[in-house]
Amino acid sequence: MLIERNVSLQRLNSFGIAARAARLVRVQSEGDVRDALAWRDFAARRKLVLGGGCNLVLTGDVRAVVLKVEVRGRRVVEETATHVIVEAGAGENWHDFVTWTLDLGHGGLENLALIPGTVGASPVQNIGAYGLELQDRFHQLDAINLASGRLFTLDSAQCGFGYRDSVFKHAPATEGGVGLAGRALILRVRFALPKPWQPVLGYRDIERKMELEGVARPTARQLYDWVVAIRRGKLPDPAQLGNAGSFFKNPVVTPEQCRDIIGRDPELVYYPMTDGRFKLAAGWMIDACGWKGKHVGNAAVYDKQALVLVNRGGRAQPATGGEVMTLAKAIQTSVYERFGIRLEPEPVVI
Ligand code: EPU
Repeated sequence: MLIERNVSLQRLNSFGIAARAARLVRVQSEGDVRDALAWRDFAARRKLVLGGGCNLVLTGDVRAVVLKVEVRGRRVVEETATHVIVEAGAGENWHDFVTWTLDLGHGGLENLALIPGTVGASPVQNIGAYGLELQDRFHQLDAINLASGRLFTLDSAQCGFGYRDSVFKHAPATEGGVGLAGRALILRVRFALPKPWQPVLGYRDIERKMELEGVARPTARQLYDWVVAIRRGKLPDPAQLGNAGSFFKNPVVTPEQCRDIIGRDPELVYYPMTDGRFKLAAGWMIDACGWKGKHVGNAAVYDKQALVLVNRGGRAQPATGGEVMTLAKAIQTSVYERFGIRLEPEPVVI
């Protein structure tokens, strides 16, 4: 195990924000974490676990020890009468993993194709798209405690999944929370792909594709291809234009609140949830406030999807985390003034 010092993080976060880490450890196995634990003040230092850096806003240099997760490997664990259990190392690229499962003939993750980032980050924010959330396919994960080096396994209930949320996004008990942020590093994740495969349909963009192509019952591969095409059409590729995906969560409101807002803005896009509440399209609200294409310094609102903030300065003159957050706050204020709704950022802000 090698501890790198004064490392640039610009290529390690999808926004392309320029920031440095005082210390960075590349974790390829649990042994690397145990080696790091033997390092004198590792236990006492704060840690930042970094996957693909696709859901992160860096507002300055990072004083915590950065643990860059590079655990590799993919395998089919077992096939039961009801499920195929597949596993991937936390450092595997998410989209490559989804593609691998489909190449093996195991559908189930196709709606989550092309989501940027790593397998290890996928449960942290409970990634979701086109009517499917990671928790719907999650089986277990193996993680290592960053204080004791002890290995442990969590099931779905123990991960405390919520909409773009899990225990890994919350502060630990010592900081007054109930979570595992900075306390655990995910090594491997297992997924349960149901047998027989059933398509997850119903999302507006997918229904439109079905009508257009005249397909009533798509295959997993067709859904995968459509999701890839839909995403390419409206979400920026972080390799071309730095971004962290959706910048705000879609706010969840009561039926009364929803009715009230629709009364004033009948065009508002919203989705009913299974618990009776409604999810409002934050992108629509930001768009309605006229934010598309606006900017603060080099942080800008993407012109094809207002929910996405981008770094329009590239690597040469990147947006700063401060510019991103100033823009985000201005958006929050204007959405609050018009709709009475407080938008909550989705990425982790450091
Ligand atoms: N809309 C606008 N203007 C905009 C953006 C959106 O009018 O600038 C409208 C769209 O026309 C659509 C509605 O708002 O009617 C919802 O937009 P979209 O279908 O693009 O999805 P979203 O709610 O903005 C969510 C997820 C995405 C996920 C898509 C597809 C969140 C925070 N975002 O976006 O996830 O890919 O649905 O399922 O839940 C991510 O988390 O990083 C992410 C990209």
